[in-house]
Formats: sequence, C-alpha cells, structure tokens
Amino acid sequence: MNWDKKDLLGIKELSREEILLVLDTAESFKDISKREIKKVPTLRGKTVITLFYEPSTRTRTSFEIAAKRMSADTINISSSTSSSVKGETLKDTARNLESMRPDAIVIRHSMPGAPHMLARILDSSVINGGDGAHEHPTQALLDLFTIREKKGRIDGLKVAIIGDIAHSRVARSNFFTLSHFDTEIICSGPPTMIPPDIEGIGVKIEYNMNKAVKGADVVMMLRIQKERGGISFIPSVKEYATLYGLRKEHIEKAKKDVIIMHPGPMNRGIEISDEVADGPYSVILDQVENGLAVRMAILYLLIGRES
Ligand code: CP
Repeated sequence: MNWDKKDLLGIKELSREEILLVLDTAESFKDISKREIKKVPTLRGKTVITLFYEPSTRTRTSFEIAAKRMSADTINISSSTSSSVKGETLKDTARNLESMRPDAIVIRHSMPGAPHMLARILDSSVINGGDGAHEHPTQALLDLFTIREKKGRIDGLKVAIIGDIAHSRVARSNFFTLSHFDTEIICSGPPTMIPPDIEGIGVKIEYNMNKAVKGADVVMMLRIQKERGGISFIPSVKEYATLYGLRKEHIEKAKKDVIIMHPGPMNRGIEISDEVADGPYSVILDQVENGLAVRMAILYLLIGRES
C-alpha cells in the first residue's frame, strides 16, 4: 500500500487501506517512546510548524513531541502570539510561513475547511489538527488505534458514542473511520445534539443512554462543545449530567471487557464521573499515549519518505 497524499485533511478522504497503513505504521513507532533515548533521525532536516488558533493540550503537544522524537525542527505558533491579532489574514500568515520553507504545517482553526484552504495554496504538507465542528482526523486515527490495540480487532464491535454529537469533530471523524469496518455505531445524547441525517451514514440513534451502552464493547464520551454553542442546546448542565453523564451503573450494562474512551479535555462530573474516568475500564490516557505514535506515523508518511 502506497501513501501518495500531500496532506491529511480529513478521514472522509481516506480509504480503509490508508487508515490501516497509518495504524500499522504507528505500531512500529510506538516503541520509540519507551526507549531510554527517545529519538530517531527519520525527519532530520525537516521543519514542522504547529499553527493553533484554538486552545489545545494533547494535539499540539503530541505533534511537537512526535516531530522532535524524529529529529525534526519544530515551531509553535498560537493565535495570541501571531500577527493575526494585528489583523493579518490566515492566508497571509500561511504564505509568510511557507516562505520560510517548512515541510509540514499542522493547523487547528475554528473555521471548518481552514486546513483545506491552506492545502490548496501551499506546497508544504498541511495536517488538520481540528477544524471547527468538521473533522479531527488524527484524533479518530488514535482512537481507532487504541480500539484495535485493546480489543485485538475492529470488526464485530459495538461502539456507543455519547454526548454533543452535533458539534463534535471527533464524532464525525470517528464515524468515517468506523464505517470502513463491520462495526455497529450507536449515538446517544439529547435530541438537540444529534443531527437526524447521521442515520444516512449507517449510524443508529438511541436517545436513551442506558439502552445505547447495553452490550457495548466501546463507550466513547464527548465533551459539550461550549465554544461552539453546545450549552444553548440543553435545558441545564445538571439535567445533561443526569441523563448523559457516564457513571458506574452504565458500565454494568456494557460488555464485561468494555473500554471507556474520551478525547479530552474532560468535564468531570458532567459527561463522565471521576470513578469511571479513573477506573479500570478507562483507556483515556492510553489514547493520549497512542496519539504520539499515530502523529509520528502521519508525519513520517507525509514528509519522512524519499519521493
Ligand atoms: N482531543 C484533543 O483534541 O485535545 P486537545 O484539544 O487538548 O488537543
């Protein structure tokens, strides 16, 4: 299987074979972070810029560490420290950065399609680190990697995705990865947070969370996207927590070896209880660890191989 893409913009553009290539490549990179000397020369001489117009703990840091572990030079730019605060457009910022000849630019932006626009005008590889409520491809790839690692397979699994589906780029990208496999995908959340058209892409809707998690192999919790107006779609946070917050009683309805996932950041006590987030079924920190290997794989596939 050959990787011939310049950019990683969304899961929607990837085939099942390309998704599996990222996962298999990540597998081979995971070991590097466990060594005493956590560095390989794979990206020596390459430059990776992270350009983040929204806050991030996991995605930005893991791209930076991934690039550094492969010996690339890294530069981090956030909206508050860039000339966007002086009125520079995204296009101008990107063109100016490209003049310094980076090999890859990882962008996070509140505007859906911002990475796609950059990919059209830049020669550098563009990686989508999350664009509005549209896609978060590297999150879905690390989620799938974690599912495959923990369950030993992807086919035949029941995956319940719970919460603010309508505003979640994580949910959208996960629908696209999971739908390449023989999985049962069930969404649950308040009716105002579930787009009715998702049934058209093979996702089932179950508004009753107790029924949604019944027999699930994987339960993936989502954060209320306050920055995208999510809070205005529910009568109260307390009611949301009562109806859609994951607690121990829900775990008992799922499969005995269920795994609990959350992309982070978590709102403890709202979408997930402390007991579950920190409990034996939680793989939330494994997701973060795997995110590093997956981002190393993506950088390698995009800019690390001889053309
Ligand atoms: N999951 C995720 O995208 O986390 P960050 O916002 O911290 O990058």
